[in-house]
Amino acid sequence: MTAKINQSLEDFELIVFGGEGDLAFRKIYPALYHRLAEGQISERSRILAVSRKEPDLFEFRDQLETHLKSFVVDIDVTVLASFLGMVSIGMIDTAAKKQNAVVDQWFNKSVFDVRVFYLATPATAFGPIAKYLDVKGYITEYSRVVLEKPLGTDLESSEKVNDEVAESFNEEQIYRIDHYLGKETVQNLMVLRFANNIFESSWNAQEIDNIQITVAESLGVGTRGAFYDRYGALRDMVQNHLLQLLCLIAMEPPAVLDADEVRDEKLKVLRALRPYDSESIKSDTIRGQYTRGKTKDGSLPSYLEDIERFDSDTETFVALKTCIDNWRWGGVPIYLRSGKRMAQRYSEIVINFKHVPHNIFPEKKLIENNRLTIRLQPEERIELKQMVKIPGPGGYRYKPFALELDFSDHFEDRFPEAYERLLMDVVRGNQTLFMRRDEVKASWKWVESILDHWESEDIPNVLYEAGSWGPGDWIMNDDVFWVEPPIRNRNK
Ligand code: BG6
Repeated sequence: MTAKINQSLEDFELIVFGGEGDLAFRKIYPALYHRLAEGQISERSRILAVSRKEPDLFEFRDQLETHLKSFVVDIDVTVLASFLGMVSIGMIDTAAKKQNAVVDQWFNKSVFDVRVFYLATPATAFGPIAKYLDVKGYITEYSRVVLEKPLGTDLESSEKVNDEVAESFNEEQIYRIDHYLGKETVQNLMVLRFANNIFESSWNAQEIDNIQITVAESLGVGTRGAFYDRYGALRDMVQNHLLQLLCLIAMEPPAVLDADEVRDEKLKVLRALRPYDSESIKSDTIRGQYTRGKTKDGSLPSYLEDIERFDSDTETFVALKTCIDNWRWGGVPIYLRSGKRMAQRYSEIVINFKHVPHNIFPEKKLIENNRLTIRLQPEERIELKQMVKIPGPGGYRYKPFALELDFSDHFEDRFPEAYERLLMDVVRGNQTLFMRRDEVKASWKWVESILDHWESEDIPNVLYEAGSWGPGDWIMNDDVFWVEPPIRNRNK
């Protein structure tokens, strides 16, 4: 069951570069379909998919229909027909400075103010596309441009892309997507922290022992091998998704929920991350690559087999220990890890509170520390581990027990996909969940301290078997173990 949303949006025009690409079919069109089905957008809005080659409208609509049917559960045929009617496809070749008649006519028939250019292409194309649109006079006062990650491969290339786009769009028109910020459970981090008073007084270095953020994927690199091999886990996941999660966990409360207020606070976190040096790069980072592995259903290929190459030094796993050098977080170790082809898909944030300072109970059994676990996916839940007395005689016997909030038990509606929320925010003109240029710059700067030292210190990849929990165990320097992989119903 899905709730109808009353907040319908004004009609808009959306132009999707890379309109026949994987991202468009898997994420962008299904997101728009859902928003149409739930009444948030109307079928008057116009969508133009842009291809670099001369396309065939009927073939494209067939493809679109097939993809939508495979990505949308319980598709409604009437809504599907309306959606297909909203979408046209045209051709723009920015290098040859050519476009077809469909594109001419589509822009000539423009009726709505809000015009969104979605660049679902490699970042190297962003500058040329922006320039092309500028020269054609397609960028209006109400136009917005959405940039997909990754924005470059390092600070310099990301700055170059940002400079090029900035020649045609001003910062208020630029929406740099990090789809993690559109996930319901990630947005709930703001509510958890800033709509509950009990956490704030213990949300600091005095009370928290360590923070762990894990994004583990069970899949390998799939068909994206050639792309992935140029990036690796650090650039693909840590530079954006994990750092954004960390920002939401560690930032100071913004005074209001305004795009720049929020982004100002996140920026301060990124700027306070301690850069790596030639010592900490060895003790506080692990990079790894998956080899062949086994599951109960058969064998899993190695990374090299997946990318069809004999050798590659690209990491498919990364674990880092870091610190935020500021007043609130001084000295609190923060562990970030992400990997492909791990035993299970799950993303989780764990806040480990400090142990009680003294045990008054005669049993003297270990009093476990409180732990707040925020599971982002695959299921959404929050657990707070606390010690409880075991009922009955026998004195003060105690054990850890978790208070659990499983979202699916309490909220029946379908959770909108990240792209649904983010696309609607672009149409609304709300930049809160998008990365500002200075944030991207600060995160690349920190990531470069890792990349540079991995290279100068010749840090090798540690091999791990596909389907395992990654290379070795998770102790980094100081006896703090990663929280064990998740098990449902920890109390049982
Ligand atoms: C993307 C990465 O940004 O995020 C992919 O490029 C990764 O490599 C994906 O698989 C993970 O997203 P999610 O939403 O499935 O956790």
